[in-house]
Amino acid sequence: MCGIAGYIGKKPAQNIVLDCLKKLEYRGYDSAGVGYLLNKGLYTVKVTGGVDNLKQALQKNATPASVMIGHTRWATHGKVCTKNAHPQISENKKIAVVHNGIIENFLQLKQTLYLDGINLVSDTDTEVIPNLIMQKLKGKAYTIKNVLNALNKVLPMLKGSFALCILIDNLNCLFIATKFSPLVIGKTNTGVMVASDIVGLPQKAQVYKLKDNTLGLVFKDGFKCYNFNLEPVILQKLDVKNNGLDTDINGFSSFMEKEINQSPSALLNTAQNILYNNALSYIPKNAIESAKTFFICACGTALHAGRVLGYLLQKYCGIFCVVDYASEFRYKNNFLDKHSFCIFISQSGETADTLGCLELAKQSGAFCLGITNVYTSRISNMVDYCLFTSAGTENSVASTKAYIAQLCSAFLLTEWISKVLGKNIDYSYKDLLDVALCLKEDYYLKLQPVVNAIKDLQSLYILGRDIDYITAQEGALKIKEVSYIHCEAMPLGELKHGSLALFNNTTYAIVLLTQKELTQKVISNIIEMQSRGAHIILITSQKVDIVVDFCIYINNKKDVFSPFVATKVLQQLALLLAKQKNLNVDKPRNLAKSVTVE
Ligand code: M6R
Repeated sequence: MCGIAGYIGKKPAQNIVLDCLKKLEYRGYDSAGVGYLLNKGLYTVKVTGGVDNLKQALQKNATPASVMIGHTRWATHGKVCTKNAHPQISENKKIAVVHNGIIENFLQLKQTLYLDGINLVSDTDTEVIPNLIMQKLKGKAYTIKNVLNALNKVLPMLKGSFALCILIDNLNCLFIATKFSPLVIGKTNTGVMVASDIVGLPQKAQVYKLKDNTLGLVFKDGFKCYNFNLEPVILQKLDVKNNGLDTDINGFSSFMEKEINQSPSALLNTAQNILYNNALSYIPKNAIESAKTFFICACGTALHAGRVLGYLLQKYCGIFCVVDYASEFRYKNNFLDKHSFCIFISQSGETADTLGCLELAKQSGAFCLGITNVYTSRISNMVDYCLFTSAGTENSVASTKAYIAQLCSAFLLTEWISKVLGKNIDYSYKDLLDVALCLKEDYYLKLQPVVNAIKDLQSLYILGRDIDYITAQEGALKIKEVSYIHCEAMPLGELKHGSLALFNNTTYAIVLLTQKELTQKVISNIIEMQSRGAHIILITSQKVDIVVDFCIYINNKKDVFSPFVATKVLQQLALLLAKQKNLNVDKPRNLAKSVTVE
């Protein structure tokens, strides 16, 4: 996680770097900082909190510096305080580093530095980097050539992942390096920038993406890159027509609210782009036909889309499907081989654990399909074939419209695979157009009384059977993430195997009921909970004859499509709860939009 930025050019760097950091804030917003060169000195300014706090701190003392690095942090090592904010500097204060990634062997490296008499002051893993470079430069002049050589000796010592941007006192350039963490270079008329993501670059920049295991030098009019043997590397210019950033909240109270509102168009655009481009037909048929097992790996909300996809493949195509958390799957005996068909779902296309699984799948010779929302992402580039969702930029940390777009791809992909395998299916892409219409309905008014009843709870349940259990998991994640209410998703049938012991007249349970054939069973479960005094909030598309505390009726068009609308209701409930509690809906505490570390 974390966003890094750098600029060197003809203009004062401050606003350029701040603007870039603001756009990268989705990667973390625990603290922010910059380092710059001025009058032959290296200076840093660091604050806790987001980039707006940094802006304020810098406004007091605006700097004309035209060489600057910057950082917006999601804390991995060490609590949130200025000491742990980046840039981290060397003991002699001549080397400043901003870092995205994790140095896994930092304790060992710290120990070595300590034994050499070097005092580290922060709790971060990053601080070892400027100090190791300092050590390698001991007794040498701080010239570009010497620093490059020193950096090249230090990089192989670092286990883990990094994108680095480094400033050296008195040297008019930026040093950069990457391994398993993204970094792009943007050339403009006035200088050269580096950033963790294309969205951080100005619209008209010529964009170049660094490959893994690259280091380089950035000057005000260009850059040079090398592999770790210091052999020159040529970077390909990316064809980026639009960096895709949508920064306007358009009168909504938050990006989350705006993005929930965009769900129908996310669904329609995804369906249209996939169908009009015949995107599914490019998946090699033999990869589908010869697959022995389908594997689906993802994290968080994307995993829930994966669970729906697994459910559909099993139901309609009779396919054996393993769906797992990417963070778990990568460390298991995974049974991947060249007959495996692997699907990786990720909005950002940058999630570290999902990427880790993708690497394993590639090594085993499996066919790898991506479902991502970002064309230029690492997952999009690494898979054998990528299906793109067209949700548009998702700014809010909570994923909403991207989930709807992922669900749409899951339904279309299942339809396609069933066709390839000659199986019957009882829906078609045309039904999805009706679902988009159903998604237009808002539930805020109907949900307000529910919000009033549950806003002060410490804990809440969401329960459902079959596909409703997957929706329950997604709803619970959303409620926890933005409203900070503990919310446990559970298959309804599991309640009496233990958890019912917790139920009493202070318990609130949201129950999902969208599958006709399960109606009676769900009603029995509701009565069991009510017998223990529990309050029931029912979200249903079925006609039911039961008295509950709150009932929200939804229209799904067809039972199997229930994850679309039922999830929207839960997204809106989460949003209302967060608003009621005056929380920062788009930037929940402790989280970041893109999780680029394990
Ligand atoms: O970019 P990805 O889809 O790979 O991200 C996966 C999760 O980090 C993400 O879905 C996360 O769970 C969301 N914040 C949930 O709203």
